[in-house]
Amino acid sequence: MTTKITWYGHATIGVETSDGYKVLIDPFFTDNPAASTTADSVSPDFIVISHGHGDHVGDAIAIAKRTGALVISNYEITNWLSGQGVEKVHPQHLGGGFKHPFGYLKLTLALHGSALPDGSYGGNPAGILLTTNDGHKLYFAQDTGLFGDMALIGEEGIDLAMLPIGDNFTMGPDDALRAVKLIHPKHVIPIHYNTWPLIAQDPNAWAERVKAETDTQVHVLNPGDVFTL
Ligand code: NI
Ligand code: MN
Repeated sequence: MTTKITWYGHATIGVETSDGYKVLIDPFFTDNPAASTTADSVSPDFIVISHGHGDHVGDAIAIAKRTGALVISNYEITNWLSGQGVEKVHPQHLGGGFKHPFGYLKLTLALHGSALPDGSYGGNPAGILLTTNDGHKLYFAQDTGLFGDMALIGEEGIDLAMLPIGDNFTMGPDDALRAVKLIHPKHVIPIHYNTWPLIAQDPNAWAERVKAETDTQVHVLNPGDVFTL
């Protein structure tokens, strides 16, 4: 039973479950200097959007219209997407979970903003906690600062956490290391760095610190790489 995680660069993540569902998180390809592929080349069954910023909503509208994928996000963002002509949406909100065909998806706290690309109100930003049907628990923190309640997320028993390390807009390496210590995931993958000079980081230096100070296995990916759980 394997779950395939593809990091497309920045905070764009594909999850392919062992039962064959393709879930695409924060699909930012166009104008993403780190993207490993294009919006036209992905064909998700589901799209999940963590918050309203342009580098997370990204190509969601175009991909949803082309593929008919169901888009899951907070209530404000799904309403906005409906107004943009996206036909299939599923609103959730922070703390709320729902059993989708691909697994149980819960939106978690995130400390960030969420204005949509046209300035519309995008509700509260979220992290994403996904329990696949074969029991893998995946935490996609997406854009957030460090918060102590990451320990509550960790209590769920996280197999894989994907955490931002870019600093400036999100946690930097120091706080991301503290996050690993709060969450205690089996595996961690850094994201949201080196897309632009403003969030330039050395992921291998961070990985060395994770190895030295925690029991978590750290995996530094290149955009387009697949990690299998
Ligand atoms: Ni953001
Ligand atoms: Mn971002």
